Amino acid sequence: PFAPRVFSGIQPSGGLTLGNYLGALKRFVEMQEEAYETIYCMVDLHAITVWQDPEKLRRATRELCAGFIASGIDPRKSILFNQSQVPEHAQLGWIFNCVARMGWMKRMTQFKDKAGKNAENASLGLFGYPALMAADILVYHATHVPVGEDQKQHLELTRDIAAKFNHDYGVDFFPLTEPVIEGAATRVMSLRDGSKKMSKSDPSDMSRINMTDDADTIAAKIRKARTDPEALPSEAKGLEERPEARNLVNIYAALADMSVDAVLSEVGGKQFSEFKPVLSDLAVAKLAPISTEMARLMEEPDEIDAILHQGSARAREIAAPILKKTYEIVGM
Ligand code: ADP
Ligand code: NA
Repeated sequence: PFAPRVFSGIQPSGGLTLGNYLGALKRFVEMQEEAYETIYCMVDLHAITVWQDPEKLRRATRELCAGFIASGIDPRKSILFNQSQVPEHAQLGWIFNCVARMGWMKRMTQFKDKAGKNAENASLGLFGYPALMAADILVYHATHVPVGEDQKQHLELTRDIAAKFNHDYGVDFFPLTEPVIEGAATRVMSLRDGSKKMSKSDPSDMSRINMTDDADTIAAKIRKARTDPEALPSEAKGLEERPEARNLVNIYAALADMSVDAVLSEVGGKQFSEFKPVLSDLAVAKLAPISTEMARLMEEPDEIDAILHQGSARAREIAAPILKKTYEIVGM
């Protein structure tokens, strides 16, 4: 009964990374061309779960929008907007705060990672953010959510919230949304530490490739990326227990739209000293046109604001009736 509809979001909490591109944006563009209605959001309400400088947040939101468009999101084909401009997200988020259970929230591993040792000093918003994320998705009755591996647990929580709401009110109102976690790079790792994901919030800039890095910076970061002394194996099995090596091969495979096995059948036996320049050339070839277009769009902030403004109006047309119906179901 639910029309195929995609929702996903990215936080404007810093510049976009190669992890965001391969784990999210690239898939967003593919799904835009498939038989889904596609809705993509700059989730600024999530960004402020950790304090953000207001001017930087405004700029990061525009830059993120530029990143979506430069990566291939077409505002005529997809709805592109800013979360805070569609108040229905926060309104449904409150209802879901009342549906989600403390015990469920306490199991969220990302909160533990992000709050670190000083969890008592984390914001209540950081703790509750997965319930708002469930609202982001379900306020559109989205059926599919393309995300990286790190969001898997939050998508399970979204399904739990939908199921509990439906059960508690005796309705079949919210869909059980499917995560779409596909491809070779669903979890791009830090270039400095193969046990950590590449993130825009990592303090070390050498740990990540930013979408706006120039060719020399990309080459230098890949050259200095941690690896091991072994040569590349000729099949994927040979990458087990070699997280840094596996990460670079996964990145190559995702950028080249190849399977890991196909990549290894080409580069198996090579040393990393030989493979890394080939990988940087490919990364530069894929990212340079995007960063050039992002820079051009950033010269047109009014154009970006107009796109976000129109997008939020279209988003509200879908969200408002779903919120209204939710209120009725709840007795309000
Ligand atoms: P970040 O962790 O960089 O702040 P967000 O939390 O805004 O990114 O995530 C935006 C999207 O990018 C999500 O779908 C997330 O799963 C994906 N993503 C983030 N980092 C990575 C990564 N290292 N590898 C793959 N996907 C990622
Ligand atoms: Na589409």
